[in-house]
Amino acid sequence: MKPEIRRAAEILRAGGLVAFPTETVYGLGADASNAKAVARLYATKGRPADHPVIVHFESAERAFTWANQVPQTARKLADRFWPGPLTLILKRSKLAKDFVTGGQDSVGLRVPSHPVAHELLEMFQGGIAAPSANRFGLVSPTTAAHVRADLGDDVDLVLEGGPSEVGIESTIVDLSTGSAVLLRPGAISREDLEQLLNLKEAGLSSPRHSGGLERHYAPRTPARLVAKHDLDKEIEKLKQRVAVLAFSRPDERVDYWLRMPRKPGAYAQKLYAALRELDTAGCKQILVETPPDTADWAAVRDRLQKACAAR
Ligand code: TXA
Ligand code: MG
Repeated sequence: MKPEIRRAAEILRAGGLVAFPTETVYGLGADASNAKAVARLYATKGRPADHPVIVHFESAERAFTWANQVPQTARKLADRFWPGPLTLILKRSKLAKDFVTGGQDSVGLRVPSHPVAHELLEMFQGGIAAPSANRFGLVSPTTAAHVRADLGDDVDLVLEGGPSEVGIESTIVDLSTGSAVLLRPGAISREDLEQLLNLKEAGLSSPRHSGGLERHYAPRTPARLVAKHDLDKEIEKLKQRVAVLAFSRPDERVDYWLRMPRKPGAYAQKLYAALRELDTAGCKQILVETPPDTADWAAVRDRLQKACAAR
């Protein structure tokens, strides 16, 4: 692995694009200090230029050099959850240029725990800008094969790191406004965070972030959330090729179905691979059994609601 990671760091230094595994999803990386490299990253993703991107580091010390104020709460969260699936939004320092912040005065920072990501960041010795390694708006990749299927030759190197353990994107906390706001739920839950700080509800003025768009993380096949007791009725009514994601086998005959785990962590880990599989089943409609309405399912519900939002 070492020589491969060394090559990846060289490609990044030369302004190239490297996809790499993280514990959440695979990222599409570029040198976060190189305007041209980041421009190519945005073009490859098909992402609007005014959307900010998360910058990844090998340590909290290095990450915090990209912030001009590091509140005590940020240090507490970093101590507790880094390296890991948490992104902190902080007021930026001069190192964070407009082309990574989308022109905002804040920057998204993350220290991932995946050993391959960590080694790459250590070797690169700088910030790596990395959105999820998929085309804009589509389902995030959780394996190297997903990345290759999405991006093909548009990426210079794909580092292999096995299936992502968490399976959904990092929890994002905005600390740039004086209070703490949860912008995106993830494996680190609201309850986990509230053991260390008070969270404010996200207001309408919360900063632009693509995960905040109504429809996101979406398969190409139209998808819909359906309560368990309506599932069979809906399948019968549709009379077309239907693919189903559910906790147990539907009674009605369907063309394709996948059973999902009953624990939210295990469900999240499988979610994107499952949506991708159902998307390639050649069906007209995907039906997803609604997960429980409890706090521990918040992050999964968020991704499913976005995957199922009307286009
Ligand atoms: O788990 C993850 O966070 C993955 C892996 C690769 O680290 N990355 C990821 O990146 O999900 P992306 O670009 O797909 O989503 C990043 C989110 C977006 O919604 C972005 O707009 C938001 O973070 N974001 C980044 N910087 C921000 C800022 N300064 N203010 C508000 N939102 C920000
Ligand atoms: Mg994404």
